Amino acid sequence: MKIVISEDGSPTLYSDAFKESYHSFRGALAESVYVYIKNGLDKWFKGQKLTDRPIRIFEMGFGTGLNLLLAHDWAVRNKQRIEFVSIELWPLPSALLHDIAWEKYGFVREWALQLHDAPCEQTVSFGDGLSLYKINKDFTTWVAEAAWQNSFDVIFYDAFGPRKQPELWTLEQLEKSCLMLRDGGLFCTYSAQSRFRRHLDSLGMQTEKFKGPLGKKHMVVAWKPLGLSE
Ligand SMILES: C[S@@+](CC[C@H](N)C(=O)[O-])C[C@H]1O[C@@H](n2cnc3c(N)ncnc32)[C@H](O)[C@@H]1O
Repeated sequence: MKIVISEDGSPTLYSDAFKESYHSFRGALAESVYVYIKNGLDKWFKGQKLTDRPIRIFEMGFGTGLNLLLAHDWAVRNKQRIEFVSIELWPLPSALLHDIAWEKYGFVREWALQLHDAPCEQTVSFGDGLSLYKINKDFTTWVAEAAWQNSFDVIFYDAFGPRKQPELWTLEQLEKSCLMLRDGGLFCTYSAQSRFRRHLDSLGMQTEKFKGPLGKKHMVVAWKPLGLSE
């Protein structure tokens, strides 16, 4: 595993095992903001009647924790609380985390490291509207708690791509994810692979395809229609 500086100056990681980077080489920060904040949280939030409850986000693939840092920053700006649940099979080694230039993402190193230090399989509250529950398991065999069905507002599906990890883009794994979404919730990812889009269609999700990040042709989000889980 090595740190690579992407074209927008922000760091990403390159996995030798998967021969794939964690983010786009054209801009790690720009891609994550575009996919998960602008076309994820912002999009979902626009259609909401404000309530007093925290927004629940599930992430497949914690990795660097960049999406959590961005979601928390978004929540602070929008005066919202978030409950963030993220699953990661291979947590990053501490030495590598210390070498990441967190300031290039606009975050303070100690804050990022604190999130990584949070223990798994328990809820950790950070006192400013953020609660974090990390799961150190394989998503393909993991079974979501019954209470988590229909409970998440937004899913960040940030696995390696369908060509590298086909097992994570199957109908079965996507169904597991969509069952965790509330009706009206948003499934969000950077991929626009047509096979995976057809899986979402067959699950009754309403897919939207539009311009992808950083010159990428397309990306897809999928809404869970009201009444789907009844
Ligand atoms: C494309 S990277 C993105 C990571 C992260 N969201 C980020 O911004 O750094 C995909 C992540 O999924 C994790 N992953 C891959 N297969 C997994 C599995 N079966 N279960 C849980 N995590 C997995 C990888 O270890 C990696 O951290």
